[in-house]
Amino acid sequence: MATKKPGGLAEVIAGVTAISTVGKEGKGLTYRGYSIEDLASYGTFEETAYLLIYGKLPDHQELQQYKQKLQHMRSLPTGLLTILEQLPGSTHPMDVLRTGVSALAAFEPETAQHHQYEIADRLIASCASVLLYWHHYHRNGSRIDTATDNGSIAGHFLQLLHGDRPSELHEKAMDVSLILYAEHEFNASTFAARVTTSTLSDLYSAVTTGIGTLRGNLHGGANEAAMELIERFTSPSDAESGVMQLLKDKKLIMGFGHRVYSVSDPRSDLIKAWSRKLSEAGGDMSLYHISERIEQIMRQEKKLFPNLDFYSASAYRLMGIPTSLFTPIFVISRLSGWSAHIIEQRANNRLIRPSADYNGPNEASWAPIANRS
Ligand code: COA
Repeated sequence: MATKKPGGLAEVIAGVTAISTVGKEGKGLTYRGYSIEDLASYGTFEETAYLLIYGKLPDHQELQQYKQKLQHMRSLPTGLLTILEQLPGSTHPMDVLRTGVSALAAFEPETAQHHQYEIADRLIASCASVLLYWHHYHRNGSRIDTATDNGSIAGHFLQLLHGDRPSELHEKAMDVSLILYAEHEFNASTFAARVTTSTLSDLYSAVTTGIGTLRGNLHGGANEAAMELIERFTSPSDAESGVMQLLKDKKLIMGFGHRVYSVSDPRSDLIKAWSRKLSEAGGDMSLYHISERIEQIMRQEKKLFPNLDFYSASAYRLMGIPTSLFTPIFVISRLSGWSAHIIEQRANNRLIRPSADYNGPNEASWAPIANRS
């Protein structure tokens, strides 16, 4: 295993949380004490979001009410639809989401009545609407109805994207993906959202901070970058020689490695199984086999394991999702984790403001502008 570099707040304990544990024994992940394996096998994304935001698993009635509540929050203000129409069709979908969240703050600002829990639920329910209204309007000029009759966010997303009800397999695969992406302790975007929250800013501002931070390729953007890598190759042997060359050129292979996990990313095995199921159901194993060969080379050459982003890429492609929407899906899911952290930060707030070691010049003496060279 390659050695870790200093800096980047690696291994620094930057606060306390009761929301999740990451990397126990180098590999475990729990949300409020529940293992990611149990949540992905027996739960749904709505139960997971409720667990994260409200602090406990919902009972039957609470879950039904929560799902209905989210379903009723899918329509967007007309002014926001106009803004989405005005954005260029070439806008990056992450810019669309960040702008959509900012604009919603203007239409539905945070107040004592419209409080943090309402906004958290509203954003989880309506970000697919923001994204896919913009997507369809700029692709074919259609102004879609963003309120579908699909009860789950996973099914709703796929239905809005493709225009018809998804298969059970696709809906379940998407649901599992949303569960896996929902929460991950003090990852960069969550930490950034907590920093914004710690200044007593509003929830929308903290979420836009999170979206901006998630976008980079070292964080959420890795699922799109992984897809671009996998799609370059026509066969497993092509992938093998291509990845060997990239490693020789000292390039990063997106979708591999992790700051906290040292043994494996527990989410990867779960999404890998779904990528396989989707490949088998679609009768085309090529992406899966190429991905497996890249995994094998990375283990052999770098002792690095795939993270959640790597097999998410092929799973999303097999559900017919365009690559540019991969990271925005991560946003829809992670809104639940961000919201939980924003609420937790507020409950016991202290301004997050670390110190730095100074390594700049000592005692520079002021020179009038005419004397500067
Ligand atoms: N491909 C190739 N080499 C990698 C690598 C990857 N995906 N991930 C880590 N390494 C190498 C680094 O280049 C470094 O080598 P060096 O010491 O010779 O420079 C070494 O492994 C140690 O990695 P380090 O930079 O200390 O990791 P980090 O904790 O700072 O970064 C990530 C963690 C996730 C940012 C990093 O693994 C990465 O860039 N992965 C690809 C992007 C990605 O998948 N992000 C999603 C994360 S969930």
